[in-house]
Amino acid sequence: MAERARVAVVISGEGSNMAALLYASRLPDAAFDIVLVASNNPQAPGLALAEAEGVPTWSQSHKGLSREAFDDALHAALAAAQPDAVALAGYMRLLTPAFVQRWRGRLLNIHPSLLPNYRGLDTYARALEAGDTHAGCTVHLVTEEVDAGEILGQVAVAIRPGDTPDTLAARVRLAEHQLYPATLATYVSRHHDAGWIERQVDALAAALPEVSRKTSHGSPGWAVGTEKSAKLFAIIADRHHGEEAIGLLVKASGADEMTGLIEARPDTYYWPKYYGASGWLGFKLNRPDTDWDEVGEWLQRSWRAVAPPRLTKLMRAADQF
Ligand code: GRF
Repeated sequence: MAERARVAVVISGEGSNMAALLYASRLPDAAFDIVLVASNNPQAPGLALAEAEGVPTWSQSHKGLSREAFDDALHAALAAAQPDAVALAGYMRLLTPAFVQRWRGRLLNIHPSLLPNYRGLDTYARALEAGDTHAGCTVHLVTEEVDAGEILGQVAVAIRPGDTPDTLAARVRLAEHQLYPATLATYVSRHHDAGWIERQVDALAAALPEVSRKTSHGSPGWAVGTEKSAKLFAIIADRHHGEEAIGLLVKASGADEMTGLIEARPDTYYWPKYYGASGWLGFKLNRPDTDWDEVGEWLQRSWRAVAPPRLTKLMRAADQF
């Protein structure tokens, strides 16, 4: 089991979603720990709960501060807690673009509607007014545009006759408390998920010319060339033969380069069993800090090493300049 991810939660008020995340983190197989609860409202009831549960808290009123100054202070407090992800849970302020950029890909929010419907406020009243059959909630990544980032999970909630914004809100809240912990757990565990890893590699490999999928002894692989001549240039070895790594196997220049790289960066490179002997270098992918640009470079290099001259010629010509 991988180490638990570190999650900070940012609230403004009640903090019932924060509580749902916190108690989910107390389950035996939880994927994350809550390492900080932060708020722009020192009186937020959620802060007192976090304190009672022994979770570190930080608060500072935003009153009298510019948006930039407050977001800088919030950023510093979060950064000090070294979270892998930051979960906004009823944080009622807009964030500066600079803050959002600093946490890009690590900042999540929960919103009480089925996005892209009803961004912003008063979502329940708007859904009722529109005569919708369902309301719901969404967990999404935060980008500069409000409530518009990639959707990570949703739950629909039936609207009942006689519902008011308050009765609907209470039911949506129950759904939120299920959705947020589960979605966050999946998100912070993605680095260890073989399916997610394979999709990242596939997106990079598919961008190279004349690439097709091909398995190698049952493992996912990528080949270059026509259907008849296709040669493998990348393979995913998912914890083969007792190895810890979900590794990308790529063609290095030979045993000398491989041993040199493995010695210099044993966290990244390894000598894969069986495959190593035929010149395949292992690159560990199931790490939170995998450098996907570097993976892309290796795929390109490995592609070049096995691609037919008709395809590499153009690249060699481009290298001259
Ligand atoms: C939730 O409805 C959430 O979707 C929205 O604000 C509310 C926060 O409630 N962003 P709580 O503070 O988590 O109880």
